[in-house]
Amino acid sequence: MTVRPRLGICVSGRGSNMQALLRAAQRGELLADPVVVFSNHLDAPALERARAAGVAVEALESRGYASRADYDAAVVQCLQPYDCDIIALAGYMRIVTPTFLNAWPGRVLNIHPSLLPAFPGLHAVEQAWSYGVRVSGCTVHFVDAEVDHGPIIVQRAVSVLPDDTVDRLAARILEQEHDAFVEAVNLVAAGRVRLEGRRVLIEPE
Ligand code: GRF
Repeated sequence: MTVRPRLGICVSGRGSNMQALLRAAQRGELLADPVVVFSNHLDAPALERARAAGVAVEALESRGYASRADYDAAVVQCLQPYDCDIIALAGYMRIVTPTFLNAWPGRVLNIHPSLLPAFPGLHAVEQAWSYGVRVSGCTVHFVDAEVDHGPIIVQRAVSVLPDDTVDRLAARILEQEHDAFVEAVNLVAAGRVRLEGRRVLIEPE
C-alpha cells in the first residue's frame, strides 16, 4: 500500500457516510485520500455533495448489463484510472460480486446499521427495533462474497430507549456510523489490521 492510500467511495443515495469521510479528510483526520466517489445511480444526491467537496465523481447505471458480474466489470474498469487502495461502500445498495472484490482483495469495507451478525440485509434498523432488542448499533466490516458477513473491523453499540421510534434510533445509529467508518478506514489505511481467521486483530499505534 502507498504511504497515503487512495480511497474510492461507492454510494447509492444521500451519502451522509461519504460526507463524514470527506469531512474527516478536509479536517486532516483521514489517513487516506478520497480520490473518487462512484454511484450506481446517476442522480444520487451524494454525487452533488462529492462534487461540492471537489472530489471526482463517476456513475454507471446497472440497467442493460447481462449479469451482476458484467456490471461489476464495468465498474472496476471505470474506477481503474483512480488506482484506489481502499474502497469504502458507504450506503452502496448493491451486492458486489467476486469480479468487484478481486479488484481490491481484502480492501473493500462496508458499513451496516446493526451489530452484525444480527439483522443483515435491508431495513436493519427496523428489523432490530421490531425485534425488540435493547441494544443495536453499527458495524464496519471487510466485504466478502456473502452479504453483510465479512470480518468485523469496528462496531459501535447504541441503546434502544423506551420511547424510541425507528427514525430516532436510526438517527442515533447514523451518528455512530459516521465516526465508526472514519475509524475503520484509518485502521486499514494505517496498516494496523491483521486477519486471524475471521477475527480482525488491531495493532497498537
Ligand atoms: C447507512 O445506514 C449505511 O449503514 C447503510 O446505508 C445507509 C446509507 O446512508 N449501508 P448514507 O447514504 O451514508 O447517508
